[in-house]
Amino acid sequence: MTATRLLPATPAGIAEAAGLLRAGELVAFGTETVYGLGADATSEQAVAGIFAAKGRPHFNPLICHYPDPDAAFAQVQATAHARALAAAFWPGPLTLVLPRQPDCPVALLAGAGLDTLAVRVPARPAALDLLRQVGRPVAAPSANRSGQVSPTTAAHVLDSLAGRIAAVLDCGPCQVGLESSVLDLTGAAPVLLRPGGVTRARIQAVIGPIGTGITPAQAEATRGLRSPGLLVSHYAPRLPVRLAATRVAADEALLAFGTPLAGAALTYQLSATGDLVEAAARLFTGLRSLDAAGGHLRAIAVMPIPDDDLGAAINDRLRRAAAPRPQDHRC
Ligand code: TXA
Ligand code: MG
Repeated sequence: MTATRLLPATPAGIAEAAGLLRAGELVAFGTETVYGLGADATSEQAVAGIFAAKGRPHFNPLICHYPDPDAAFAQVQATAHARALAAAFWPGPLTLVLPRQPDCPVALLAGAGLDTLAVRVPARPAALDLLRQVGRPVAAPSANRSGQVSPTTAAHVLDSLAGRIAAVLDCGPCQVGLESSVLDLTGAAPVLLRPGGVTRARIQAVIGPIGTGITPAQAEATRGLRSPGLLVSHYAPRLPVRLAATRVAADEALLAFGTPLAGAALTYQLSATGDLVEAAARLFTGLRSLDAAGGHLRAIAVMPIPDDDLGAAINDRLRRAAAPRPQDHRC
């Protein structure tokens, strides 16, 4: 059991966090999307520590974080599409999957043995300072125990990982609140593996049409193959989740979008005005707070959310939260 330190995002706190990462310790830090559980990506041992702390299956590859596009593209083979997307969206919530450079120093374990690597430059000044000071790629999955809801505050990280990691750099709440979009650029056509903070339409505006991506069912069928992390049951709160609710029972919690349904035991409003950006930012906090308050309740009922723009990513996370949860499907 390690005593987990809560470090402020001050110059001294960031320097401390960078020193810990360079020494092979695990440090969670805020990005614009969710909190990441960081480790020196060039150290197999440090990366193994991530899997152990999260209880994550080893086959699931991690995203490597860099302070700027040049640092990222020194380690993967960038295509013209990759450079155009980096110019448009980095720093920002887009992850690119590209072939590793032959001399890429990232631990094989970080890529789960794949010959591709997922790279991104996060849009958060404290995170970028941290990455610059570490001077090495930082592997960072979302900083939660496997299968649980991703953390969007330092307190969420401590809830699930206190005692298992060296420190949390408190960067305040995450503005986007949903993970990055993951785009695979290694095939003949680009494929959106995970919808996220940058919408499909914005990506297509830069590089033209992209593949339809994979449904959760297809992801499950290809588990262990193309993007092993995209399991059906993920982001799972303890309470069952019921989607597209048009009425709510007195023993249910309600995740509301727009005018709330009447009659719920308790309600968390994602966005009273139906704003998808606000709803994305509040999604994981909402699931967590209903779950924490609702031990005596039957389920979390979720009002319908339009599939436009960030709604596609929100609905993707909600479908996973609602999926059946056999233990061996959790990640
Ligand atoms: O916003 C985010 O992306 C956050 C912050 C911390 O950066 N990170 C994050 O990481 O969500 P994680 O590990 O929870 O999700 C990474 C996703 C998984 O679905 C994984 O399977 C996929 O990216 N992935 C990673 N490397 C891959 C690769 N080489 N090929 C295909 N998919 C990959
Ligand atoms: Mg995750």
